Amino acid sequence: HELEWDLEQIEKGGYPHFMLKEIMEQPEALENCLRGRLDLPHNTVKLGGLIDVMDRVQAADRIIICACGTSWHAGLVGEYLIEEFARIPVEVEYASEFRYRNPVLRANDVVIAISQSGETADTLAAVREAKRQGVLTLGICNVVGSTIARETDAGVYLHVGPEIGVASTKAFTAQVTVLTLLALKLAEGRTLSEAEMAQALRALAEIPEKVRQVLALDEEIRRIAHVYRYASNFLYLGRGYNFPVALEGALKLKEISYIHAEGYPAAEMKHGPIALIDRFMPVVFIAMKDRTYDKVVSNIEEVVARQGSVIAITDEGNGELDALCEYVIRIPPAPDFLTPLLTVVPLQLLAYHIAVMRGCNVDQPRNLAKSVTVE
Ligand code: G6P
Repeated sequence: HELEWDLEQIEKGGYPHFMLKEIMEQPEALENCLRGRLDLPHNTVKLGGLIDVMDRVQAADRIIICACGTSWHAGLVGEYLIEEFARIPVEVEYASEFRYRNPVLRANDVVIAISQSGETADTLAAVREAKRQGVLTLGICNVVGSTIARETDAGVYLHVGPEIGVASTKAFTAQVTVLTLLALKLAEGRTLSEAEMAQALRALAEIPEKVRQVLALDEEIRRIAHVYRYASNFLYLGRGYNFPVALEGALKLKEISYIHAEGYPAAEMKHGPIALIDRFMPVVFIAMKDRTYDKVVSNIEEVVARQGSVIAITDEGNGELDALCEYVIRIPPAPDFLTPLLTVVPLQLLAYHIAVMRGCNVDQPRNLAKSVTVE
């Protein structure tokens, strides 16, 4: 047992938990995920595993993304990315729903299964249903040789190394990175000019370093966690590319700290969650300076008017929210389609620190499994 314990300490690389290690290693993880794929000199994206099927994916009438949990949230970001860049309609489905509702699939549809483990029972069943209906299936998996990786027609690996913490962190940012590469690949020579492609690829290449800068805010986020550690509810709000990040931030907190948390598209707040807001309700806003920024600021004002306590994530150099919000976390700016890779990081850290302060078992939260291989 002592030997096992020692090995575990070595695997944690000096961190107290796998989750923190996996959050902290995201810059390197994303570099590994991009390596050989982001080809700046040739102004192109290379996805070796998709070479044989790329024509069919580009000609798809529709892409259906199936996944569960955090992978489903990555899929939602993928929907926005692929629709914006490739102009192919995308639907994102919970694999568990897709598999049982006799989905309509047509010959030129493509199903993409996203699964860190590659073993999630519902996602695997969705792949099998798609194959049964004769549709092209792609896998975005982390675990090499996993069942979903083997059973799909083609795919892309995350290449981020094993993820041990039950709450997914580096796999999420890598899934979003792969989906970004895919969206850009699908847009190549079709909907993006060479100059636009060059700009997008350069911005993507800068992401690992920007994630490093966000991680440097760890101590600041730990202090914020300390203030809110006894809250019993949290609301997370974001729009556009950061709506799925709001869902993911809420999921992280729920999973490891057992605090009830809900993520919502910010504008939907008026249709329900606003009724919950009082001075005991911390609200985390993702308020990056993108096309929806002004609208998000109005939502922040509405929350503050009801005594809600706001933590906002915004761009470096933006002081406009200081007077309104209790805490403002400032991160490096990026083109809006890349911001989920940055905005999710403070939310991972916030959940992590709150859970540690509440004495929770961060790496193995109660009732949860790393991979749900049964229904
Ligand atoms: C479980 C894990 C989550 C994960 C989900 C999907 O619920 O606890 O962290 O996001 O399964 O797993 P997958 O391996 O398919 O991405």
